[in-house]
Amino acid sequence: MKRKNLVLYSILTAIALANAAVYWSLKPIWFFIDKEIGNIGSIDNFWSIFFWILSTAVCIYTLVLFIIRKSGLVHSVILIFFNLIFIIFNIYLCQMLGSEINILSRNLLTLLPGLLITATVLYFTIIFPKTKLSKNGKSRALAAVLLLLVLFVSINIPGNIRITSGPSIQYIDDDNFAVIWTTNRKSTGWIEWGPDENQLSVKQMSEKGLIQANTRAHKIIMSGNQNDNFIFRAGSKDIKELFQNNVVFGKTVYSEFIEFEDNKYNDEISFYVLSDIHERKDLYEKYLSGNDYDFLVLNGDLLSSVDTEDIIIDEMLKPLSTYSKGFTPFYFVRGNHETRGASARELPDYLALPGDSYYYTFNYGPVFGLVLDAGEDKPDSHEEYGGLADFEAYRETESEWLKDVSQSEAWKKAEFKIVFNHIPLNMYESTQEDSSLRKTEEEWVKILNSIEIDALISGHTHKSDFIEADGDRFKFPIIVGGGYRKANSGYEAIKIEVENDSMKIYLVDEDGQLSEICTIDD
Ligand SMILES: [Fe+2]
Repeated sequence: MKRKNLVLYSILTAIALANAAVYWSLKPIWFFIDKEIGNIGSIDNFWSIFFWILSTAVCIYTLVLFIIRKSGLVHSVILIFFNLIFIIFNIYLCQMLGSEINILSRNLLTLLPGLLITATVLYFTIIFPKTKLSKNGKSRALAAVLLLLVLFVSINIPGNIRITSGPSIQYIDDDNFAVIWTTNRKSTGWIEWGPDENQLSVKQMSEKGLIQANTRAHKIIMSGNQNDNFIFRAGSKDIKELFQNNVVFGKTVYSEFIEFEDNKYNDEISFYVLSDIHERKDLYEKYLSGNDYDFLVLNGDLLSSVDTEDIIIDEMLKPLSTYSKGFTPFYFVRGNHETRGASARELPDYLALPGDSYYYTFNYGPVFGLVLDAGEDKPDSHEEYGGLADFEAYRETESEWLKDVSQSEAWKKAEFKIVFNHIPLNMYESTQEDSSLRKTEEEWVKILNSIEIDALISGHTHKSDFIEADGDRFKFPIIVGGGYRKANSGYEAIKIEVENDSMKIYLVDEDGQLSEICTIDD
């Protein structure tokens, strides 16, 4: 084959591979492809599969051309035509991602090692034998060694156990707290804790008599009031194989010792509310690198879709623990996007939720937090959920629970009662359809009006907002964060500070500038 044809087909194959990789990385929005091209009805993902096969066929066709040593203008035109169609198609799909374009880069990064290995193997097995270099014995030997090396490394990628996020302390209730961390490999987990390194107690992660040895998500619930400060570290032992009579252990990894300072009973506290981060990891660094807060409320949609358990670690827990002093407690409020994706069902394993529920209450200093979970933002029957949503019944159960919240002693004693709900409760009031979402909104507003809360903190709309209490429709103010006030003006978090019987609520821009939204006195 002529040199220029060799170069041309190599480039076209590389482009076809890149196109296939981009298309595969866009799988979170394949649903919209069906929707855009036409309702295919019972042929599930027909178009996704069609384009995927076509893309792969282009690669194979190119390779076959190399092998049978035939080339020509017609083949080149066909290959260029296919590649152009895919480039246009992929650009169109990328635009559909909008602000969630980082989904593409994240998925592409996970494909990168496989792509590099594929490209290397293709080069040395198909292209290299056709080059002048292959006539030289030394070059051939070097190529063979390189190829073997790549194959060996790809099969035996070294993977020592590492702690990939945490450990962090999470409050469950006044009597229990949890330590959570994650590892890159399945392992055991324990914590060593005490007043100093010479007086350490050990607690294993075990359940129903078995020490957990088959998980990357470690969670140890500790009993007792943690009023005193203490030091602790997490440990995990790699489990390589776990058979009936044979356990093959790998290495053991420890976190640093962490000095935990408990501010939960302070009268003066401050905290950030972050919502709608949608994988923008730079926001964790911007807001959490300082030392100006005691805890965090994650108010939903930190993730766009929980497609894999790695996403929970890489896109949320790792940046959180990297920038929030490593171990700052957080309260998790589920957003509608965190209900999406196969691993949304495993998300609770990675969190320490009070009562093991997405709706719960908590006390922190003078603040009584009431966390609600609105679930998805469209009716259960919406085609996007593929028949897998059951939030209408879930919200009804939650409404019953909500009616009793104000009966507790903690509620009656609380200085400031703040409700956290990802979706603001004025979202559906103007919708015409008689949906469950609208009924829930009406019911929750009615209950919250009757139990006299101090504020509702929400996100979801990607537009900051302040809806003042009018004493009638809303007897409480609604503050919406996680967005911007003017188009493209940047993200805004909410910061709440409580001191001297007064609670100030701010919006904080990406440069750290605070704008006071309202002050609520006890
Ligand atoms: Fe949302």
